Amino acid sequence: MEESYPMTGGDGQFSYAKNSNPQGRAADNVKALLVGTIAENLDIEHICRESTIFRIADLGCSVGPNTYIAVNNIIEVVAQKCQSKGHASLPDFQVFFNDHVSNDFNLLFANLPPERQYFAVGVPGSFHTRLFPKASINFIYSAYALQWLSKAPAELGDQLNSTSCNKGRIYYSNAPNEVGQAYSAQYAKDIGSFLCARAEELAPGGLMTILIPGT
Ligand SMILES: C[S@@+](CC[C@H](N)C(=O)[O-])C[C@H]1O[C@@H](n2cnc3c(N)ncnc32)[C@H](O)[C@@H]1O
Repeated sequence: MEESYPMTGGDGQFSYAKNSNPQGRAADNVKALLVGTIAENLDIEHICRESTIFRIADLGCSVGPNTYIAVNNIIEVVAQKCQSKGHASLPDFQVFFNDHVSNDFNLLFANLPPERQYFAVGVPGSFHTRLFPKASINFIYSAYALQWLSKAPAELGDQLNSTSCNKGRIYYSNAPNEVGQAYSAQYAKDIGSFLCARAEELAPGGLMTILIPGT
């Protein structure tokens, strides 16, 4: 069973909407990389030959405002790329906002920028499973979300039988080596299922960018 710990909803003092500046700054710091990657690697000729719709997915989008900024950046660069390739008109942009079902999608939709140049869709569910039809998404983006595990490794709580028991701690720093290995094995499983699902969903010529915090 997947465990879901959504960000604090609403727009109160302790909400994610009011406490997500560090993640926003991190995304801003790598904007040049995002722009360069799209400019260099996105096969816009192929995509525009296949469809008049350009589909973007933000996986683990939470409630904004970071997701709105990221989506705008992506659309801006894709539009520039279309223009630089001499396309007379832009594709219609469709944006899929994904997060766990318990995410505050009401707030996400209520705050969508009124001047947006895209059609917005909510996609509830875990990104460790398939979320979209085969070969349907042209650009997959995920920021500050893939560090989440689908669940805590079961052996961490097994006080009687497991050397990986992480009694009394919520972090693995200073814990026995087996604890780190248990987290690492769970992460390998999770990233494996994430990548398998995305490999099915990404359309030919498309791109995926992932931003993961690390130390
Ligand atoms: C720290 S927030 C990042 C939100 C946004 N991407 C940003 O950069 O501000 C991480 C989000 O990932 C979501 N998340 C974690 N695991 C997920 C999963 N398996 N499927 C979908 N969303 C997930 C959480 O619910 C949370 O909203």
